[in-house]
Amino acid sequence: MRRKFVAGNWKMHGSLAENQTLLSQLARGLKGSESLDIAVFATAPYLFQCKSLLASTPLNWGAQNMSQYSQGAYTGEVSAQMLQDFSCKYVIVGHSERREIFSENNSVVADKFAQALKAGVTPILCVGESLQQRESGVAEAIISEQIQAVLNVVGVSGFAHSVIAYEPVWAIGTGKTASPEQAQEMHAAIRAQLAKENENIAANMQILYGGSVKPGNAADIFAKPDVDGALVGGASLNANDFIQICKAAS
Ligand code: 13P
Repeated sequence: MRRKFVAGNWKMHGSLAENQTLLSQLARGLKGSESLDIAVFATAPYLFQCKSLLASTPLNWGAQNMSQYSQGAYTGEVSAQMLQDFSCKYVIVGHSERREIFSENNSVVADKFAQALKAGVTPILCVGESLQQRESGVAEAIISEQIQAVLNVVGVSGFAHSVIAYEPVWAIGTGKTASPEQAQEMHAAIRAQLAKENENIAANMQILYGGSVKPGNAADIFAKPDVDGALVGGASLNANDFIQICKAAS
């Protein structure tokens, strides 16, 4: 039985004061939600704040990005080992904003995924197609390629300790969410791709949906059998919204 997982990607937002308010509201509002996996993803300077404020709560925290290299002269980068050093549990790899704005291709994303695994940090692999790709009927092929690139590097066993987030690019920050049916269709395709390699790993894989998830649409999306939760952007910055989305999943 897969647990539901609600993750909040704060992107490049927050401050010490804002985070403190948000984290304490979440800790209060999400007491007793141990049946659910919940995590917030702050920018690197605030990870330590998340660690200390969430220490005795059921909430986890993770990083939004990391280096594909393990160590060395890579100014400005943060390694998976550094994340692991202070018990960071998760790291997002391959978010479409990283792929598009920072030119991360499938091979870089696969290297990051592999580094995270090696350090013992659970990667959350983001995959997603653009609007143009969806309209030209290649959405499934694009997602399959994005997953295959990681399979090629870590093998299916690498996926036993990971999470996948399907985030159609056209639904991110646009207020235009994929319909529950569109999400289900892609999640089932992702699970089927993994099942070809290992049925058990596929059956246990948490596959999250991301793209304009709000309190008003979360329950319908979570009702789909292959949707195991959400990676929430904008709505994760508002404590009430995020708490309501978590409640819809529990
Ligand atoms: P929004 O929920 O703001 O659309 O962002 C989704 C996302 O990119 C989460 O990683």
